Amino acid sequence: MDSTADREVLDTALTLIHSRQHISPKRLGDPGPDPGQIENILGAAGAAPDHGLLNPWRLIIIPPERRHLLGEAFAEALTERDGAATEAQRQEARAKASRGPFLVTVVVRLDPELGPTHPQERIVSAGCAIQNMLLVAHALGFGAGLSSGRALYSKQMRLLFGLSEHEQPLCFMTVGTVHRRKPARARPVMADYTSTL
Ligand SMILES: Cc1cc2nc3c(=O)[nH]c(=O)nc-3n(C[C@H](O)[C@H](O)[C@H](O)COP(=O)(O)O)c2cc1C
Repeated sequence: MDSTADREVLDTALTLIHSRQHISPKRLGDPGPDPGQIENILGAAGAAPDHGLLNPWRLIIIPPERRHLLGEAFAEALTERDGAATEAQRQEARAKASRGPFLVTVVVRLDPELGPTHPQERIVSAGCAIQNMLLVAHALGFGAGLSSGRALYSKQMRLLFGLSEHEQPLCFMTVGTVHRRKPARARPVMADYTSTL
């Protein structure tokens, strides 16, 4: 590549990185990514750094026809946390499962048998995979957001996603068309998080 092309690649990368913002699933609607775009987004996860080449995380797509199962898990997790939760509150919890057209759960695999790398390294790898997906979704013109919350760590969720003893859910990622956008947050600058030894 000549230096003009290099500069264009750099400008594109910086624009993409700095213009990405978290979009709440509430603000994401149809259309969602089509199968080819989904392949672009999820395929980018596989380019994440992975010490020991362990593939230490996995993605679970929750298609529209299975969202009701996630909704039930949200409702049951709520009742388990709060036995006094009303049916209206359970319904509110259920409704979270239907937000956004494309939804995946990211799970990290912490099994010691997988290899000698530390859990931190595996979680970092998963974080890189997530960022790759967020950036590709953004490059395709979609909004994307991560979500977690107490229900994610519940036994209902473990059961629904068939998590093994050594797997931990990290977050949900929702992708769709941005219907309402909040102003971008002020971001930290290099001096806020960098020092020199
Ligand atoms: C693992 C993870 C889980 C997250 N879960 C939530 C969440 O449950 N609710 C939420 O509003 N944002 C969640 N976020 C998104 C952050 O709130 C968001 O990244 C932050 O506000 C910074 O905004 P930005 O991504 O636009 O820079 C999560 C982010 C990460 C990395």
